[in-house]
Amino acid sequence: MKHIKAVIRPEKLNEVRDALDKAGCAKGMMITDIVGHGGQKGIEQVWRGEKYTVDLLPKVMLDLVVRDADVPTVKEVLLRVAPIGEFGDGKIFIYNVEEVIRIRTGETGEAAL
Ligand SMILES: Nc1ncnc2c1ncn2[C@@H]1O[C@H](COP(=O)(O)OP(=O)(O)OP(=O)(O)O)[C@@H](O)[C@H]1O
Ligand SMILES: [Mg+2]
Repeated sequence: MKHIKAVIRPEKLNEVRDALDKAGCAKGMMITDIVGHGGQKGIEQVWRGEKYTVDLLPKVMLDLVVRDADVPTVKEVLLRVAPIGEFGDGKIFIYNVEEVIRIRTGETGEAAL
């Protein structure tokens, strides 16, 4: 099992959720509003002639724990739906998951996803 942590644009959340749903590759998910920055360290803006930098931008963090077999599909969906083709389109981090336990039943592993 893998933990896929995807940081995406907030305005893409609904589209990404619909696409993951349609692809049937994510049974559950965690969604968190975050602020952060990548390589550009935010963006420079001009307001009434004054330059200022917004150094932390709002993003949505999507946490999915999925079967190994579903990882390629999740990646394909994210890479297809999440970008607008500009800086700040987001990033995907993938981790190994040691165990999952459904509290109600005690089921473990993929059966618990
Ligand atoms: N190395 C990193 N570690 C942790 N979080 C990161 C990292 N890079 C990006 N993020 C998170 O992802 C969000 C979006 O990053 P972003 O898409 O701007 O990455 P980037 O590497 O700058 O790519 P791009 O050049 O396309 O903008 C950031 O706001 C931050 O929350
Ligand atoms: Mg960036």
